[in-house]
Amino acid sequence: MSSVVVERSPAQLIHSMVRSLNLTGHVGFDSLPDQLVNKSVAQGFCFNILCVGETGIGKSTMMDTLFNTNFDSTPSTHDLPGVKLKAHTYELREKNVLLKLTLVDTVGFGDQINKEDSWKPIVDYIDAQFDAFLHEELKIKRMLHTYHDSRVHACLYFIAPTGHSLKALDLVTMKKLDTKVNIIPVIAKSDTITKTELSKFKAKLMSELVVNGVHIYQFPTDDETVADTNAAMNQHLPFAVVGSNDEVKIGNKFGHQIRRHSTRQEHAVKLPLENENHCDFVKLREMLIRTNMEDLREVTHSKHYELYRRHKLEEMGFSDSETKSLSETYEEKRQEHILSLQKKEDEMRQMFVIRVKEKEAELKEAEKELHNRFDALKRQHTEEKRKLEDSKKRLEDEMNLFAQHKAQVQAQASTIGKKKK
Ligand code: GTP
Ligand code: MG
Repeated sequence: MSSVVVERSPAQLIHSMVRSLNLTGHVGFDSLPDQLVNKSVAQGFCFNILCVGETGIGKSTMMDTLFNTNFDSTPSTHDLPGVKLKAHTYELREKNVLLKLTLVDTVGFGDQINKEDSWKPIVDYIDAQFDAFLHEELKIKRMLHTYHDSRVHACLYFIAPTGHSLKALDLVTMKKLDTKVNIIPVIAKSDTITKTELSKFKAKLMSELVVNGVHIYQFPTDDETVADTNAAMNQHLPFAVVGSNDEVKIGNKFGHQIRRHSTRQEHAVKLPLENENHCDFVKLREMLIRTNMEDLREVTHSKHYELYRRHKLEEMGFSDSETKSLSETYEEKRQEHILSLQKKEDEMRQMFVIRVKEKEAELKEAEKELHNRFDALKRQHTEEKRKLEDSKKRLEDEMNLFAQHKAQVQAQASTIGKKKK
């Protein structure tokens, strides 16, 4: 008869040994959730929003409207040579809750003639924040509880209210970002198109995103307290929003107002920003800040950062191998690195020797050439000296001959002179 041995993990063993007991009195560990809340509140919370959208599309106004404050932004020009990202961190306090809010803005997005690489600075920024977090995690002395987490938790992608379709730039950028960040698409300045156009535009945008396989953030439906609201809100995406800085008295309280055109009206009517029939601003604020801020932070950490971390560690040569421990992998990689360094050093040394030999040969060649030239010049010089001496001798002979001839002529002349006397 054969017997089957079932292997159990330590966790399973502990679980199988756990017994439920009743308490006979109040112990006090029911305060554990409160302890957690108090600790989190004391530390404060980080939330980071990235606003991607063309210059002047309403990013800053939307942030001011969302947080009911004035973040003091400066509008950018349309003539920048490339896309840049600008981040500002603010501390906001509501009752006793401290929120460290970082707003990141694209500057110059969509302003260049060649928009091919406009997505790159955005992806680089997101990766840089992941990298900083990973760096902190891998430190020997980690300070994760005091570390200022700058990872982007939500990307509000501002779509121009054209009423037509998504621009190629938007599709490409969203596609590049969707595995790195929670994208929440919004139709900006939605007060500038009519309600009928808006609903058609929303449907068109959603189908384009689906066709092109762009994954946008879905509000979670696994927590039953918010499942219904979130499921309903997912149907309203992308939110058609309006930003407004002009606070006016509406009824008996202050609020922001929007202007809404309609096909039948020539002039815009003024409506409160909070009117959910005319704009999704309230839905966005509700979903982003009041209901799903924690989920956005959680998804960023457990999905997007995890993916980045996995790729990065794999790139560095780590793997979750059953046969090799982390330190063995590290040692192996270290040896590989040392070997490759040695190989490079040897190659460089060999290269150096070759270069020295080449230089030596070049110098010898140059020396030989110089000798040859010197010999040739010497020969030329001797030849010219010989020629000069020849011509000197010839001239001296001629001079002697001339002197002889002159003496003869003078002698003849004196003989003739004597005869005449
Ligand atoms: P840059 O930072 O320069 O890229 O611009 P931005 O995207 O931050 O836009 P900003 O919020 O500065 O708004 C640009 C202009 O659009 C301002 O004149 C705003 O008053 C106006 N604006 C902003 N939001 C809306 C909106 O929802 N509807 C309408 N009609 N106008 C808006
Ligand atoms: Mg701005």
